[in-house]
Amino acid sequence: MQIFIAGATGVLGRRLITQFADTGHTAVGLTRDERGDTIVESCGGTPRRGDLFDEESVVRAAKGADVVIHAATAIPTEDPSPERWELNDRVRREGTQTLTTAAATVGADQYLQQSIVWVSRPPDGTPFDEESARHPDPSTQSAADAEDISREAGGQYNFDVGVLRCGYFYAPDAYHTLAHGQDLIQDNKPLIKGSEAADISRVHVSDAASGFVAAAEEHLSGVWHVTDDEPVTMAAFSTALAERLDAPAPEWISETKARQAMRDAQVNLLTTPMVTSNEKLRTATEWEPSYPTYKTGLDHVVETWESDRMLTEDRTQ
Ligand SMILES: NC(=O)c1ccc[n+]([C@@H]2O[C@H](COP(=O)([O-])OP(=O)(O)OC[C@H]3O[C@@H](n4cnc5c(N)ncnc54)[C@H](OP(=O)(O)O)[C@@H]3O)[C@@H](O)[C@H]2O)c1
Repeated sequence: MQIFIAGATGVLGRRLITQFADTGHTAVGLTRDERGDTIVESCGGTPRRGDLFDEESVVRAAKGADVVIHAATAIPTEDPSPERWELNDRVRREGTQTLTTAAATVGADQYLQQSIVWVSRPPDGTPFDEESARHPDPSTQSAADAEDISREAGGQYNFDVGVLRCGYFYAPDAYHTLAHGQDLIQDNKPLIKGSEAADISRVHVSDAASGFVAAAEEHLSGVWHVTDDEPVTMAAFSTALAERLDAPAPEWISETKARQAMRDAQVNLLTTPMVTSNEKLRTATEWEPSYPTYKTGLDHVVETWESDRMLTEDRTQ
C-alpha cells in the first residue's frame, strides 16, 4: 500500500515512515523544507513537499495514497504561548480538513487520525475506554473537533476513518522526555504534589507507530486506544527515570506553586488519573507493545541517551 503521512519529520512521523517502509509499504512523507526531505529519506521514505495550510499542495503530495495519516502537531515546546497553542489547534482542525479533502480527492480508502486518550478522561478519574463519553476541555477541544471532522469527511466521501487515541508519549527523542532527563541530571526538577496519586496511561512512541501500522494493515475504522499495559503515576515514572540516570530523587513542589509556573492543563494532565487500556486493539489485531511497561521503555530511553550521547551532562558514565 502507499501510505501518505503528514507530520513525517516528527517524533511519531519518523517512526511511521520507518515502520511502514520496513513492512514493505511505500511510505510518502509530507515535508516543508530540505531538512524534512533528508529526514524522510533517511527513514526509508519518499518526501513530497506541501503545507497543511495550503490545500492544493497537500492534494498534490498525496497523489496515489491508499491510506492518509494525520500525525502532524505544533505542540509548543520552548515557547508555550497562547499563540503557539492556537497554531496547534489550527494544525488539528484545518490540518484535518486539508488531509481529509486530500484523501477524498486522491481516492484513498482509509484515513487515520492521531488523537489523544485524554479527550475522554472522565472528570472523576475513573477508568475509561473507547466507548466512554468524551470530556474535552479547552486544551483538548481541537483534538475532539479533529476526530469529528475526520469522521464526517469519511461519511461524506466514503473512506474508512480510524481514530487512534494515543497515551501520553515518551521516547528518547521526544522533546518532553529529553527535557525531563536533562532537568533531572542538572536541576533536579521537582515533582508536583498530587502526581503520586494519579495513574496515567502512557505509550512509547515506537509502539504508537506500530499501532498505526496494525490499523492500516487490518483496515480498522472507529476509535482505538494505543497505550502500554501499565498506567503509572508521573511521580513513579520520574523516580524510575532518575534511578536509571543515577540522578538524585526528585524533590516536591505544591500544586499551587506548580500552577504559577505551568498551564493548568499541563498540571491537570500530571495530577488527574487517566487510566485506559489497549485491549480493543490487541484483540482486533496482532499488535502488542514492544515496551508493555514504562520500566522496559525507560531502560530503552536511557540506553539510547547513553549510546547516542543525547544528554548534555551524562552522569551515567
Ligand atoms: N500522545 C501524546 O502524548 C502526544 C501526541 C502528539 C505530540 N506529543 C508531544 O508533542 C511534542 C511534539 O511532537 P512531535 O515530535 O510529533 O512534534 P514535532 O517534532 O514538532 O513534529 C510535528 C510534525 O508536524 C509537522 N507540521 C507541523 N505543522 C505543519 C504544517 N503546517 N504543515 C505540514 N506539517 C506540519 C512538522 O513538520 P516540520 O518538520 O516541517 O516542522 C513535523 O513533522 C513531543 O514532545 C511529543 O511527545 C505528545
